[in-house]
Amino acid sequence: MHNKLENLFPDVADIPEAFRPDAPVEQREYLVNGELRRWDGPLAPVRSPIFLKTAEGEQQVVLGSTPLLDADAALTALDAAVAAYDNGQGLWPNLRVAERIQHVETFLARMREQRAAVVKLLMWEIGKNLKDSEKEFDRTCDYIVDTIEALKELDRRSSRFELEQGTLGQIRRVPLGVALCMGPYNYPLNETFTTLIPALIMGNTVVFKPAKFGVLLIRPLLEAFRDSFPPGVINIIYGRGRETVSALMASGKIDVFAFIGTHKGAADLKRLHPRPHRLRAALGLDAKNPGIVLPKVDLDNAVEEAITGALSFNGQRCTALKILFVHDSVLPAFLDKFASRLAQLKPGMPWEPGVALTPLPEPGKVDYLKTLLEDALSKGAKVINEGGGEARESFFYPALLSPVNAQMRLYHEEQFGPLVPVVPYREVEEVIDYVLQSDYGQQLSLFGSDPEQVGRLVDAFANQVGRINVNAQCQRGPDSYPFNGRKNSAEGTLSVHDALRTFSIRTLVATRFNAANKALISEIIQGRESNFLTTDYIF
Ligand code: G3H
Repeated sequence: MHNKLENLFPDVADIPEAFRPDAPVEQREYLVNGELRRWDGPLAPVRSPIFLKTAEGEQQVVLGSTPLLDADAALTALDAAVAAYDNGQGLWPNLRVAERIQHVETFLARMREQRAAVVKLLMWEIGKNLKDSEKEFDRTCDYIVDTIEALKELDRRSSRFELEQGTLGQIRRVPLGVALCMGPYNYPLNETFTTLIPALIMGNTVVFKPAKFGVLLIRPLLEAFRDSFPPGVINIIYGRGRETVSALMASGKIDVFAFIGTHKGAADLKRLHPRPHRLRAALGLDAKNPGIVLPKVDLDNAVEEAITGALSFNGQRCTALKILFVHDSVLPAFLDKFASRLAQLKPGMPWEPGVALTPLPEPGKVDYLKTLLEDALSKGAKVINEGGGEARESFFYPALLSPVNAQMRLYHEEQFGPLVPVVPYREVEEVIDYVLQSDYGQQLSLFGSDPEQVGRLVDAFANQVGRINVNAQCQRGPDSYPFNGRKNSAEGTLSVHDALRTFSIRTLVATRFNAANKALISEIIQGRESNFLTTDYIF
C-alpha cells in the first residue's frame, strides 16, 4: 500500500489533456438583481484535494479564488430577492405556472451546455470520480425534469373546484416568500438544486450560497441563471457563512431556510432569526446510519452492499453506512469478505478509469480520521485490512476496524470519511438499543433472510428512522421516494413531489355555493380576470 500511495498523485504531464486543470480562475462575479456584480474586496482561495508531483515535491493544486463577500454585500442580494418578491405582489410569484416552467426549462437547456465544465470542476474541487461526477450532473438535470412534471400534475389537480358542505372552493399552492438555499460539499450541485429549483418554480425568490467546497463549479452556471430568470429572482452570493448568512438570518427577511449541513450549524442559524415562527425550514443534517448483519444472511450480498454503502465517495455521503453491527456467528466470514472486497477498490485520481478511492477535500480531515482511528486502536480495536489507515497528504486509505465498542469515539461520531467500524453483537437487543439511544434517525440497513427476524426488526425501527433498507445499502434515491430523517438528522421531507409542498403553502378561495356567487366565479373564470381562479391547466 505504501508504494501505491507514493505514486498516487500524478505529474501534470500524466493527466489526459481533457482533465488537466485549467489556469486558476479569479472569480470576482456574484449575481444580484439580474446582473453579475464585481467584488473588489478579498478573495478566498479554492484549493483542490489533488496534489501534483513537481520538482519541489508534491504541491496542492490551487484552482482559483472566489469572492469573500461581507455582510453588506450579502444583504444587497437579500434586498434584491425581497424586492422581486415584493410582499407577494412581484412579477415572479404571480406568473402563471406554465410561464415559470418555461423559465426553468430555459435554464435547464443552458445548464446542460455546461456539463463538461461542471463535471471537471466536481472532480478537481471535491475529488469525486468521473463516473459519479457525471451521475451527479445528470441526476440533477433529471430532477429538474421530474420537478416540472410533478408541478404540471399538481397544477392539473388544482385547476378544479371542489364543493364541500355547501362551500365552493379552489385550492392552490402558492409561494412562501424569500428562500435561502445552502447545499453541502459532497453534493454541491445535486443537493443544492433539489431545494433551489423547487423553491424557484413554486414562485419564491432565492438567495443561494454555494457549499464550502464545490464553489467554482457554480461559476459556469451564473450567466444561465442571470439570463433565465427575471432580475432579483435568483441571487448568488459567496463568502463565509458566519458573516454573510448570519446577517441574512438576523434580518428576519428569510421566509424559508433550506440547508444541508450539521444540526449545530442549522440550529445556530435558525436561532438568529428574530421571528422563528415565520421561518419554514427544510434541513438535511447529520446521520450515523447503521448496517445490521443478522445471523441468517446472504453474506456476499451484505458485503457488496456494505462496501458501496460505507465507502462510495470515500464515505462522504450523509446516507453512508457509518457503523456496522455484525452478529458474532458471521463475524469472521464477514470481515474476511469485506477486507478482500475492499482490497479491490482502486485508489487514484478522479478521472482514472475504475477509480473508487480519491483524496478528501476538507483540510484537516485526514488528521481527524487518524485521531478517530488511534482512539479506537487504543481501546482494543484492530485494523483488519492491509494498509488500512495509511495516508498521504489529503488521501486516507480506508480502514476496516473491529471490534468497535461504545467507549470509542467512532461508535458515536459521524466520521464522514473512509473508516468502517464494525461492532460485533450477540443479542439483537444490543443493536435495537443503539438505534433507540442514537441522536440520529436518518436510515438504516438490515441484512438478513429470516422473515421472522427481519419483520420484527422492521417494526422495532419503523418509529426510529426515515427509511429501512432491507438487504440494500442506505441511499437517497429514487428521488420520487421521501427523503427525511428524525431526531438530529433532518427537518421536513424532500422528494420531487414533497419539495414542491415544502416551498409553498395552500391558499383556499372559498364561497357559499349560491346562484350569485356561482355567477361571479364563472365570470371571473370566463373573463380570465384572475391567475389564481382559473380552470386552465397545462398538458
Ligand atoms: O449526502 C447525502 C445525500 O443525500 C445522499 O444521497 O444516497 O444518493 O448518495 P445518495
